[in-house]
Amino acid sequence: MADQAEKLREMVKEKNKEKKKSRVIAFTSGKGGVGKTNIVANVAYLLSTINKKVIVFDADLGLANIDILLGLKPKHSLIDVIKNGKKMKEIMIKVNDNFHVIPAGSGVEEMANISEPVFSKIKDELMEIIKDTDVLLIDTGAGISKKVTSFIKSSEEIVVVTTPEPTSMADAYAVIKIASTNYKKENISVFVNMAKSKQEAETTYENLNKICKKFLNKEFKYSGFSLIDKNLPSAVKQQKAVAELYPNSNFTISMKKFINNMFKENIKVKENPIARFFASLFGGS
Ligand SMILES: Nc1ncnc2c1ncn2[C@@H]1O[C@H](COP(=O)(O)OP(=O)(O)OP(=O)(O)O)[C@@H](O)[C@H]1O
Ligand SMILES: [Mg+2]
Repeated sequence: MADQAEKLREMVKEKNKEKKKSRVIAFTSGKGGVGKTNIVANVAYLLSTINKKVIVFDADLGLANIDILLGLKPKHSLIDVIKNGKKMKEIMIKVNDNFHVIPAGSGVEEMANISEPVFSKIKDELMEIIKDTDVLLIDTGAGISKKVTSFIKSSEEIVVVTTPEPTSMADAYAVIKIASTNYKKENISVFVNMAKSKQEAETTYENLNKICKKFLNKEFKYSGFSLIDKNLPSAVKQQKAVAELYPNSNFTISMKKFINNMFKENIKVKENPIARFFASLFGGS
């Protein structure tokens, strides 16, 4: 009997050891409007469809909008955690059984100018809540203000989103520099969005990586790209994830490839070569 109990204890110990740590990935950009929120929303949605438990934390404090993008109607937001003593779990909104969003609250000035102790409280609450989660995706605001860099500093993995525009690339470099030099982040990758072609996306990445190599003496991974896809504005208007409304669109395919690459998953990707050809010509799918 004692022997069996001992065995059971060992088994529980092993099981606990097996439990993988939750991944914390921040999506950031430097320049605004490059597609972070859409990428985060769709990556989260697709991960939820393969049974991963995902939480999206809207870190665009004061200007949040992932809830609008997904047609959610939050009754509470982070401000209730900070000022009114609510628990993070109480403000979390369910998109589906595997996918929850923590809304940041829009138009609240206090949220835009967050202090160090408040940030620390947010971080502690987040660490508590992700214990039962596979992935925490953080959608940061644009720029390099403290409210953005605080989240970069706290994330193990950083995905820097850029478009092929030189201004966007310059701002992406600024973020990479801060993450890698100031915060010693090693796990930084580059995602190129709104490219006109696969070639343009690759050249964008290569040029950015070359600059990093020259000035930071470091190279960074390429985590994927997406072409300009006219389904995006349409999905945004319908307040649903593109991946849900248009599962075969270019953007959805790009998000699936990104997941396969980042999470070593094997989501089937049904390429549509004709759509891809026309997308590269006309910027749609
Ligand atoms: N691949 C794409 N093809 C076409 N339109 C896109 C694509 N990616 C993003 N967009 C459009 O670009 C706009 C900005 O996207 P989004 O809000 O996701 O960017 P963001 O980086 O989160 O912006 P912000 O910095 O303001 O938070 C949206 O109107 C979106 O529909
Ligand atoms: Mg955004």
